[in-house]
Amino acid sequence: MSSTITSAHGSDTAGEALRGGAPTPATDPVLRAHQVRRSFSMGSRSLEILHGIDLTLHAGELVALVGASGAGKSTLLHILGVLDRPDDGKLEVGGRDVWSLSTNERARLRNLEIGFVFQFYHLLPELNAVENTLLPAMIELSWLEYQRAKKKLRARAVDMLVHFGLADRLEHRPGELSGGERQRVAMARALLQNPKILLADEPTGNLDSSTGETVLELLFEEQRRRQLAMILVTHDSRLADRCGRVLMMEDGIVQADSAHPVPD
Ligand SMILES: Nc1ncnc2c1ncn2[C@@H]1O[C@H](COP(=O)(O)OP(=O)(O)OP(=O)(O)O)[C@@H](O)[C@H]1O
Ligand SMILES: [Mg+2]
Repeated sequence: MSSTITSAHGSDTAGEALRGGAPTPATDPVLRAHQVRRSFSMGSRSLEILHGIDLTLHAGELVALVGASGAGKSTLLHILGVLDRPDDGKLEVGGRDVWSLSTNERARLRNLEIGFVFQFYHLLPELNAVENTLLPAMIELSWLEYQRAKKKLRARAVDMLVHFGLADRLEHRPGELSGGERQRVAMARALLQNPKILLADEPTGNLDSSTGETVLELLFEEQRRRQLAMILVTHDSRLADRCGRVLMMEDGIVQADSAHPVPD
């Protein structure tokens, strides 16, 4: 079985100015999935969750990924973010076939090109806000390189945290931060390396509506300012309406909408 992710609604030109990022097929895609499949073993049987997904994402595009719980949105996002390997199919980031790279090259590409924001933050509890933000650089660089670049990197991390309203929380550990504050640290961490792609899996799913609103506005602002190619998983149709393109997943397949094929 094969499925193509298609737009659940298209994008009109007037709306595009207001909504995030219209598709820009003239540019090379920053991310492309081709016939991606993923199964999980359940005891003795294997259950296929993604049935051959095709997806293309261009620079500056803001795309919503919607669908019922269990449809496979997180599974797909983890594969697109190179956090999980597909059983079959191909993933290209910046034109490079991710799974044919060496382990080191792939780790580097993931670290530099892709930012990830999770529903439950995934911050390290023993590190403070600045240290959590610096994690991608700590992973990327050797000890010596990190020591040399530390001052500059720290200034960049602090700048971002201040921009996200956390000037008075720099030394706080996750356990001493509110949910919204934790998610803002996670956003700073995701953006530290100036990635071209930002993948956000229900980033406000664990926050009250007003805190969630603040976090989302910051996220949308960064998407516009940095011209990020961004996929936002959400259950909120109002949020999806603010995106340039909406992808609808259902049971590992995507609703076909021949009127709005995905540009590639
Ligand atoms: N590691 C795993 N092992 C077995 N099954 C899994 C695993 N990860 C996900 N699944 C199954 O794959 C299906 C899709 O899960 P996924 O988390 O991608 O859904 P989702 O669309 O993100 O749902 P939600 O909106 O609730 O977050 C679910 O039925 C889930 O049980
Ligand atoms: Mg999910």
